[in-house]
Amino acid sequence: MKGTDRLRRLAPLAMTVLLALAAGACSGNHPNTTFSPHTELGRDIDALWNRLLLLGTIVFVLVEAALVVVILRYRHVDDDTRPPQTHGSTKLEILWTLIPAIILVFIAIPTVRTIFKTQANSPHGSLNVEVTGHQWWWEFKYPEYGITTANEVYIPTGRTVNFTLRSADVIHSFWTPQLGGKRDVVTNRTNFLWYTPDSAMEASVWNGFCAEYCGTSHANMKFRVFTVKPDQFASWVAGQKRPAVFGATPTPAQPASAASSTPQMMTAAAAEGEGFIFPREKIPEWAVPHAGPPAGVTFTAGLTGNAHRGMEVFSGSACIGCHAIAGNPAAMGTTAPNLTHIASRSSIAAGLYPNTAAYLALWIKNARVMKPGVIMPTLGKDQYDPVLKTTVTTGGLTDQQIADIVAYLSVLK
Ligand code: CUA
Repeated sequence: MKGTDRLRRLAPLAMTVLLALAAGACSGNHPNTTFSPHTELGRDIDALWNRLLLLGTIVFVLVEAALVVVILRYRHVDDDTRPPQTHGSTKLEILWTLIPAIILVFIAIPTVRTIFKTQANSPHGSLNVEVTGHQWWWEFKYPEYGITTANEVYIPTGRTVNFTLRSADVIHSFWTPQLGGKRDVVTNRTNFLWYTPDSAMEASVWNGFCAEYCGTSHANMKFRVFTVKPDQFASWVAGQKRPAVFGATPTPAQPASAASSTPQMMTAAAAEGEGFIFPREKIPEWAVPHAGPPAGVTFTAGLTGNAHRGMEVFSGSACIGCHAIAGNPAAMGTTAPNLTHIASRSSIAAGLYPNTAAYLALWIKNARVMKPGVIMPTLGKDQYDPVLKTTVTTGGLTDQQIADIVAYLSVLK
């Protein structure tokens, strides 16, 4: 008896603590919440959810109240009288068919209306962005501007963006929690998702995810959406449309052969500027990768790379079979991320690591240790390839060669 009393006294206290914890979870910064939408798509779905939650809560409260009343009223009493027995009640049956039917009408009308609205074709004049899901990264193409980029997508505020969703391999799912989504990216099928980032928004960064299990590195298939002012977007487009240039030359002495082999890359140069790039220092903490380098791959400290030598190594190695760099006629591959403006991106490996020289070097040296399952081969000389289960010998890149490639990629702003 005593124990039950204590339980009875503790129950309200436990309830209060639970409620406080639940309420506490609602405050603070939740960058990946779907409850603070910044587009009409997000708001439509949020409004529908709120309505269904309200209706569901009303039904829940009424049903539970009826249940409690019945339990208390008809609980067991210590006498032998048999309660009245009934069989069937037309009135009741009509009632409990009719009430749910009416409730369903109230749920169905706004649901169907929202489905039709969000599944309709995007408004005329939308910005078309072709999204291709790859194992395990995102490709973004702007057919209007002839731009191809990876894992970081820029869209202007106030203009509807229409994402065309396709897959290069298995099923993925495109999800930008605070902007809208998610929608499956299905093999041999084209899906669409469109929304308009609020025009009153400051330039902002949003997290994007793959939301459909697609293999070993499904969790490492992230992307960032940069919503920027229309003039910033125009400037970014202008920068991205340019072929790769040596905007800044890291070393004064340049081998004559490199200079003569790519004259257009040398002359286009920095005069035009790089175009708008979202300032790295303004990217919030939650949109910056925090994974440290894994054990099993290290890089010689203090090596200085030469960008022109790096371009020669890059152009003469396996890199060009998969990667494209506009302006470098040797690099035309299309199966891996386009590297034309890789230095303008804040992260590499689909949001897994920050885009710094140190991480790039480790990545080139042994991507398969850096990201489980990645298709990019292990390239570093004497590195162990965990997929082929062999050590790279002939044709492997030395740390100096990798440092040179990193220097080359680092000027591709
Ligand atoms: Cu792509 Cu999960």
